[in-house]
This record gives sequence, C-alpha cells and structure tokens, in this order.
Amino acid sequence: MAGMKDIRNIVILTGAGVSAESGIDTFRDGGGLWEQHRVEDVATPEAFARDPDLVLRFYDMRREAIQTKEPNAAHVALARLDREWEGELLIVTQNVDDLHERAGAKRVLHMHGEHLNAWCTACDVRSPWTGPLLDRPACPQCGAAELRPDIVWFGEMPYRMDEIFEALEQADLFVSIGTSGAVYPAAGFVRNAREFGAETLELNLEPSQGTAWFDAARHGPATALVSAWVDEVLGL
Ligand code: OAD
Repeated sequence: MAGMKDIRNIVILTGAGVSAESGIDTFRDGGGLWEQHRVEDVATPEAFARDPDLVLRFYDMRREAIQTKEPNAAHVALARLDREWEGELLIVTQNVDDLHERAGAKRVLHMHGEHLNAWCTACDVRSPWTGPLLDRPACPQCGAAELRPDIVWFGEMPYRMDEIFEALEQADLFVSIGTSGAVYPAAGFVRNAREFGAETLELNLEPSQGTAWFDAARHGPATALVSAWVDEVLGL
C-alpha cells in the first residue's frame, strides 16, 4: 500500500462480519440467518404482502436481540479512526444494527436501513423505534397503523446511493470489512473505487467472493485485524 501520506479520503464498507464477534449472526456463514430462514419468506416486499405477521415477528426478534449486544473492538477502532482522521471518511454499512454509532462513530451511512427505525408506509416518515411492530402500533407522526421495518429488502433500492458514489469517486482508499461480497450493489463498490483510482483493501475472516478485486487482503477476525489496521493508519 502507498504511504499513508498519499491517503486523504477513505471509504469503508462494513458487513455482518464486523458485528459477528458481538454475537450477532451473519447471513451466510454456517448457521447464519439465511440458513435458518428462506430469504423469500422474510426479506422481500412480496413476503411482507403475503404473510406480514411472519415478517414482522422475524424483525421484532432481531430488533430485540441487537439491543442486548455491545460494540466490539472493531467498532471501537473504526470510531476512533472517525474521530481522529482529518481527511474525508465515510463508513458505509450494510448492517442494520447500531453498533458503529454506539461505539461513537459519526460518519456512518446505513445503506440497507436500520432495525431501530420504523417506516410508515402511509405518511412515508421514519421514526426511531425500539419495540415490536407485530401488534400494529400507530405511527407517531400520522397515527396510521402501517409501520414496516426500515430495512431494504431484496428487490428494493439501497439508500443514499448518490452520496455513496460521490464518496467513492473522491476516495483514495477503499476498505471492505466483514462482508462476503455476495450482495450487489455493495459487492461492486471495490470495482467502482478502483475505476475511480482508489487503492483497495479487504479485511475479512476469509477471502470474500470479490477478493481478487482488491489490491491487498488480510484475513482473520475483525476485532484483531481492524484494530491493527487503524493503528497503522493513525501512525500509532
Ligand atoms: P454475509 O453473512 O454474507 O458475510 C459475512 C462475512 O463476514 C463472511 O465473508 C464471513 O467470512 C465474514 N466474517 C464472519 N465472522 C467474521 C469476523 N469475526 N471477522 C471478520 N469477518 C468475519 O454478510 P454481508 O456480506 O454483510 O442485506 O451480507 C450482505 C447483505 O446480505 C446484508 O446486508 C443483508 C444480507 O441479505 C439485507 O438485509 C438487505
């Protein structure tokens, strides 16, 4: 990797692997969420139309579970980088937990939505939400009982793609952490970043599906890898 002096703007993509050591299941590892549930049963607009109770119950359980988990050393290291890095920095997360924020990171963008929001399909407003949705609570904004999880389902467009592409265009360094590279458009960001001229680094437990696209890759648990990498970047 070029000397850090050349690096000013950083984009970091995180996935389920960054929260794995906090005890939150990933999607595709052995025993992961998609082995326990068929995607088409819980994570599509069609599933919600067909069996809303099943979908709401699935996300109610996940929303409850993440509130019992704590940020790990990888979240803490990224929050420190966010605090101390003087150039541009954006943490684009596919995760719908709030562990980056609870560790103190500020420059975070949730491209796949957030468990701790509810989205009213009547008035289109998103409200902070920690409780269940199964019992059809009223929207705090308009009173309609039409709240859904604020999660981007398969077949829906991820959030804030314009901002993400602007950041990728400006990036000198793109780092992908704890993601399998299976889900687009996030899986394509490494190629976008390369085309825009950034260096690319993968930090993941094992080679991801897109590992060949990265200039460099380090494999191991996020708590160890991310902490060491952040120390390097900050010159500690
Ligand atoms: P995956 O479950 O597909 O991939 C998790 C990756 O993290 C795998 O490559 C693991 O090897 C790696 N991993 C596991 N434990 C790790 C650890 N301790 N340290 C470092 N890496 C570790 O999860 P994502 O790539 O995040 O979308 O999945 C992408 C999207 O697919 C999710 O956002 C979700 C899902 O469908 C939506 O819900 C919209």
